[in-house]
Amino acid sequence: MIYSTLLLGAALASSASAACTREQLIAATDAYITAQAAGDPAMPALAENVTYLENDAPMDITTGVLSQAITIDFNRSLHDSVECATFTEISAATNAEPYVIATRMLFTDDKITTIQSVVANNGDWAFNATGQLYWTKTENWDPIPEDQRDSRDVIKAAGDAYLDSWGDGTVKVPYGSPCARLEGGSYTGRVGSTANTCTMPQFPSAFKIENRRYVIDEEVGGLDIFNDFPFIDADKPDGTSSTNFFRIEGGMIRYIHETTICTNPNCGR
Ligand SMILES: *[C@@H]1O[C@H](CO)[C@@H](O)[C@H](O)[C@H]1NC(C)=O
Ligand SMILES: *[C@@H]1O[C@H](CO)[C@@H](O)[C@H](O)[C@H]1NC(C)=O
Ligand SMILES: *[C@@H]1O[C@H](CO)[C@@H](O)[C@H](O)[C@H]1NC(C)=O
Repeated sequence: MIYSTLLLGAALASSASAACTREQLIAATDAYITAQAAGDPAMPALAENVTYLENDAPMDITTGVLSQAITIDFNRSLHDSVECATFTEISAATNAEPYVIATRMLFTDDKITTIQSVVANNGDWAFNATGQLYWTKTENWDPIPEDQRDSRDVIKAAGDAYLDSWGDGTVKVPYGSPCARLEGGSYTGRVGSTANTCTMPQFPSAFKIENRRYVIDEEVGGLDIFNDFPFIDADKPDGTSSTNFFRIEGGMIRYIHETTICTNPNCGR
């Protein structure tokens, strides 16, 4: 009995050492912000063989947006120590060319082995970096008291239900009251309001949101889902690069930020 408990303890310890610490992931997102501000991707944890993608297209990190110095007005990050992944949303409204950048970083053996960014600028869906900055700063994403935190499964299920509901209006979505959505730079909510303004009707055609890539952070009730969004961009019928960034409180959706890339200005809409 004691022996098997010891074995179990050893097995847990070794699986824990394969995961990442929150401190290490916070150091990485801090380094990422510093790198983007400087336009110098040399981060201490960067793997030599890092895979770098912008809007789902692989590219050379030295020619990407991470190699341009950008004035950052605001940032928020999620740290997923189970999957060894991070998510960061950068608001750069006062930069010469305004941007909103959503970045997912994946780690292997303590090194950043993948960086995937959705890089939105003028002409992308509802893009208005000034509005995005204004509204994101009004939101409260403070850590949730430990005894009130949702499990990873509850957090993930809330975001999945939201994306599933676009193609299937019968899916029940746990919208909170209040719930507010920041879509590009347009906000559905109002400060102090308790209304749920997030409800999405089913889109005119049935479709599935595929290629979902998750980052989950129980401490802030945070979830980000990188995904391929069909329908919206006529030139990308199979889906354009998109990300939905959620705050979940008590199993209910409180905030949603959507960043979606368009081939033509505002996806031709
Ligand atoms: C890339 O680097 C990481 C970390 O240094 C290592 O674990 C991984 O095996 C490497 N991948 C390839 C394809 O060389
Ligand atoms: C990024 O966000 C952190 C946490 O809110 C803040 O302390 C830091 O100053 C921000 N960095 C930039 C460049 O805005
Ligand atoms: C962008 O948002 C700001 C702040 O909400 C607003 O004042 C401005 O008119 C918006 N710009 C456009 C082009 O809609």
